[in-house]
Amino acid sequence: MKKGLAQTVMARLEALGRITDEPGRLTRTFCSPAMQRANQLVNSWMRQAGMTVRQDAIGNLIGHYAAEQRCQAHEKVLLLGSHLDTVRNAGKFDGPLGVLTAIACVQQLHEKNIRLPFAVEVAAFGDEEGVRFQKAYIGSTALAGTFDARDLKRTDAEGITMEAAIRDFGGNPNQLASARLNPDRLLGYAEVHIEQGPLLENKKLPLGVVTAIAGQTRAHLAFNGRAGHAGTTPMALRRDALCAAAQLILEVEALAKNQAGLVATVGALQAFPGVSNVIPAQAQLSLDLRHPVDDVRRSACAELRKRARTIATARKLQVHWEAVSETAAVQCDSRLSAVLGEAVKQHQKSLVRLPSGAGHDAAAMAAIAPVAMLFVRCKGGISHHPEESASEADIRIAIAVMGDFLQRLAALHYEKL
Ligand code: HGY
Ligand code: MN
Ligand code: MN
Repeated sequence: MKKGLAQTVMARLEALGRITDEPGRLTRTFCSPAMQRANQLVNSWMRQAGMTVRQDAIGNLIGHYAAEQRCQAHEKVLLLGSHLDTVRNAGKFDGPLGVLTAIACVQQLHEKNIRLPFAVEVAAFGDEEGVRFQKAYIGSTALAGTFDARDLKRTDAEGITMEAAIRDFGGNPNQLASARLNPDRLLGYAEVHIEQGPLLENKKLPLGVVTAIAGQTRAHLAFNGRAGHAGTTPMALRRDALCAAAQLILEVEALAKNQAGLVATVGALQAFPGVSNVIPAQAQLSLDLRHPVDDVRRSACAELRKRARTIATARKLQVHWEAVSETAAVQCDSRLSAVLGEAVKQHQKSLVRLPSGAGHDAAAMAAIAPVAMLFVRCKGGISHHPEESASEADIRIAIAVMGDFLQRLAALHYEKL
């Protein structure tokens, strides 16, 4: 019996979920050997769906399903997609679900031999999470033309530059401008993604339309004190970097708890020299700050910088703060989202519109196109965790909605605003 598209998406999520750089858990990072294998597999699925496929200069995979013949001369493009990279010890759905549901929509058109008045392209972005080089949205900023070439000099944990990694992957760091899409051709960008939160589950709804994507600041801090003997150094004479970091971490939490809509996370912490009988001379920590309103996020950032300096002064330490990346909050396009919302209403009892606390490639693509996002309910709102999951039934509805969305845009002969 021919597998349904949703069943195929589930099987492909499992297959991609086994392609990892770290045996025993799912970790697939930018330009890694696992990403190479994932691109090969997704490339074959894109071709099975009737697309021509290219790998761009930064390593994104882009499938192209041409418009109907009469529209090909001045062919416009509706871009779908999401990312193929993952966080460390990730779930299988964050990113690949958007790529695979997009391919399923094109597969549906291909099997019915339907062509639309615009081309449909599917982007499988090579890096959204920023795990390897601490820079998010590498793939989508390359398409948007907003990638900062200075980031090519960033190095990973092994000291490999982004530039070398792209080259080894088969990309061309000197030709990144060639990856940029022509905004005049782009009708819009639509992304399907798991919600990564509990709202749809609480509302007992499979899908929701995203209103906005929270802005985010990522920073890297280092407290610098003085190493000393853990057994002979009196407490009053210590300049313990890890204690300073611990104090700041609790202040980060307290500040976020007292500011509506603000979320703040210290996800990584390292003590140096990192042995039990030496007072830590240095503590390095990451900071991730998010809020739907940029001014609120930026003032929270300034406040935490001040608190870090106060803690360092009081403990006779130095503190170094490096702003790693900042992404402004993005409003989803009202017109494109309205069409998506109409499609949702045909497939579930009510339409929920909700903001995204998580960042997405749509935030980068908004620089050159109207964007819309469709959230899929995920179990317990769990994400960035191996237990992340969405149901085949909800994915079936998501594919139906996206197919309906494409047809509606075609019927509207949708032209970008
Ligand atoms: O961190 C995020 O919000 C996304 O998963 N990159
Ligand atoms: Mn993620
Ligand atoms: Mn994601």
